[in-house]
Amino acid sequence: MRIAITGGAGYIGSHTLLDILGDGHEALVIDNYANSSPEALARVKSLSNRTFEMSEQTITDQPSLSETFQQFKPEAVIHFAGLKAVGESEDIPLTYYEENIQGTISLLRAMDGCGCKNIIFSSSATVYGLPDYLPFDEAHPTAPINTYGRTKYFAEEIIHDWTKTDPAKSAVVLRYFNPVGAHKSGMIGEDPAGIPNNLVPFIAQVAIGRRDALSVFGNDYETKDGTGVRDYIHINDLASGHVAAVDYIAEHTGFEAINLGTGRGYSVLEVVAAFEKASGKPIPLRYEPRRKGDLANSYAECDKAKRLLGWHAQFGINEMCEDVWRWQSQNPHGYRDN
Ligand code: UFG
Repeated sequence: MRIAITGGAGYIGSHTLLDILGDGHEALVIDNYANSSPEALARVKSLSNRTFEMSEQTITDQPSLSETFQQFKPEAVIHFAGLKAVGESEDIPLTYYEENIQGTISLLRAMDGCGCKNIIFSSSATVYGLPDYLPFDEAHPTAPINTYGRTKYFAEEIIHDWTKTDPAKSAVVLRYFNPVGAHKSGMIGEDPAGIPNNLVPFIAQVAIGRRDALSVFGNDYETKDGTGVRDYIHINDLASGHVAAVDYIAEHTGFEAINLGTGRGYSVLEVVAAFEKASGKPIPLRYEPRRKGDLANSYAECDKAKRLLGWHAQFGINEMCEDVWRWQSQNPHGYRDN
């Protein structure tokens, strides 16, 4: 298939691009490099031994996006481009609505303009909000508790309504749990700008000596050891979930929301222990109060992905940490080392 990948230079985008190329598809990357690097694409090129098209542009510029699509004629779009920091979304909500909602509408219009009827959307488990029950299945009520989560939820609904305008349209929205890890080669990985918001990139920077200690946000939750529990999923499992979704939309129409997780939760302290083992480095800890808006527990029910996509996660927490450590130690400053 001819597949356009918005945000294809980013963390999840670049790993997915590599797998999409490996599966024999033709790709066009659309990225404005707001939180990504051209170096990631150069490395995907060398890892895959394949070429692909690249257009540096923002998806909110609809006329320009439409023109790009008229030329490339995508048969499917994988839509990653967007802003993703929960805390920041509370400070600049309108920017989040512009990028994540307006961006999605602009993309759907450009798809309509060239007759493209298939989309896979990068959504998030954060659309569920506080758990009524666990594990989160796809039928769990959606009531996100922050602006970022609402942008993902609204974008899902917009895509759902878009599919209803034509029985030939097909959409899969993938609700990611906590993506971590890096490609086995150590050549591509997560390269957060500034201080990492997320647990594993922060631990990796402590291990490499860029930060002195990990702040553990809360140790009085009702969990196995008092720290927050999450369903971490290896980035290569997440990428292969997208390849499976491409195969699915080629054969099916309509709208589906599907969780991508492992079904298993690990506490902050368990992740720290796994990372210490993988890296051989001690991770000093500093206990701090709970972080605003954090859940105690979040993990996925993964049956629907297995049933519809024939997909399930392969890698465990030890491989996630080993692969992050390989990437971090080979690239102490991420893509800026190049
Ligand atoms: N944590 C720490 N210290 C840190 C960072 C995180 O103790 O420096 C803890 C958090 O309190 C939480 C756990 O580690 O218990 C995981 O936190 P992350 O920030 O890594 O991940 P979140 O579960 O908060 O959020 C992630 C993504 C969101 C997405 C959400 C979906 O960052 O974009 O999963 O559930 F919306």
